[in-house]
Amino acid sequence: MEKTHVAIVGMGTVGSGVARLLLDHGDRLARHAGRVLWLNKALVRDLSKDRGISGLPAGVLTDNLQEILENPQIQVVAHLIGGIEPARTIMLKLLESGKDVVTANKALLAQHGEELFDRARSLGRTIAFEASVGGGIPIIANITQCFTANQIISLRGILNGTSNFILTQMSEKGLDYNRALEIAQNMGYAEADPAMDVDGSDAAQKLAILAHLAFGVRIDWKDIQRHGLEAFTIEDIRYAEKLGYRIRLLATAQLIDDNLELHVSPTLIRNGRPLAEVRGPYNAITIVGDAVGDMFFHGQGAGQMPTASAVVADMIDTAAGRTDITFRRLQLWSDRQCEIELTPYARTLGRYYMRYLVADEPGVLSQITGILGNYRISISSIIQHEPAESSDPSKVPLIIMTHVCTEADASKAHEAIGQLSSVDSRCFKLRVSEG
Ligand code: NAP
Ligand code: HSE
Repeated sequence: MEKTHVAIVGMGTVGSGVARLLLDHGDRLARHAGRVLWLNKALVRDLSKDRGISGLPAGVLTDNLQEILENPQIQVVAHLIGGIEPARTIMLKLLESGKDVVTANKALLAQHGEELFDRARSLGRTIAFEASVGGGIPIIANITQCFTANQIISLRGILNGTSNFILTQMSEKGLDYNRALEIAQNMGYAEADPAMDVDGSDAAQKLAILAHLAFGVRIDWKDIQRHGLEAFTIEDIRYAEKLGYRIRLLATAQLIDDNLELHVSPTLIRNGRPLAEVRGPYNAITIVGDAVGDMFFHGQGAGQMPTASAVVADMIDTAAGRTDITFRRLQLWSDRQCEIELTPYARTLGRYYMRYLVADEPGVLSQITGILGNYRISISSIIQHEPAESSDPSKVPLIIMTHVCTEADASKAHEAIGQLSSVDSRCFKLRVSEG
């Protein structure tokens, strides 16, 4: 059988998983690719570090990128280092030395997709990136190949495995936030800088990539309004449960009359809805297409082998020549015109959960409902709890669920309520989703 020589750049969590698949399941991969994928080189920074891979042939590991760039046998490279630099420079060098690239680095694509894709196109090379969104879930292939008969109308997803793992560990096992994050890091789910996972940045980068593929919009991920797990507490998780909801970090792209709203925020999702049931490092995406209707994708969005599964599938597609066809046809990150306008975040519509700690005195409730009324916000439910035995008896938690209103009105009303002398400054608001 013919051989395609491949290399791996970066042998961390994902790179080591890719090496394991190539070395332990070479026969299976050869059957699927119609050729042998031969691991020729694997680049690391530290040659002495144990990579936990048995059967890595002598001479494969190198700390010298030139050994890959200058080796004309190597055709396909899995680029599996994170962050922006030196990842960007290395990817450009790989393309310039004639290699086709497979990557899982969404931060790099979300920030420099245009430059990298232009360069690949001008050099006649390809970049495949299934693993950059949703880990093992084949969402890129579905959007770019299977849904091409559709106008996608909405795309809503849990796109960060680390934050979903933290949320479920907190709510189901009662772990505190820091302990849950530590486990996610040990399991290999988190980014080298986990701040990106928990502040909504990683999900926004993935949403920017999906929005480009599904709607043709090119948006700087930093312009996507995003909130992370930093502000709410375990009490909010418990109040949400009592109301029949779960909190999930939800990325939303919703098309209404050629206007697209994009945001990432912790959101209350009604129990029993598919996205509310997503646990641990799993990701899920619901897509609505005008012809196909609703689709739901669910799978492990972070972790070594699920991500390696997507990377190796892309390596097989590249070796077999399929990527070349899709890459050329899709014209990703090219200058094609897009009719879709982005909806300013303040104008997006939604329901809200608002939580306050208020003085247990006559008239407070009417002040608060008065402010909501002034902003034309209708209340769907209101719950006032008795103070916990251990807490200040003069203050009581108040939870308000609103009907649909604009983000601008919800924010202004929430701010005005927070300024009342009878309301503690530690107040909080979250989006609510029924679907
Ligand atoms: P990781 O465990 O931190 O591994 C990164 C590897 O890159 C390390 O082995 C490091 O080498 C190597 N590296 C960094 N700079 C290098 C350089 N200049 N030259 C050579 N090697 C270099 O990261 P990961 O979790 O595997 O993630 C890799 C990429 O996949 C990231 O873009 C990430 O966002 C993405 N991703 C990860 C997951 C996941 O579940 N982990 C899922 C989907 C996508 P040393 O080991 O020698 O330090
Ligand atoms: N750190 C990312 C996550 C890896 O937790 O989802 C997958 O992209």
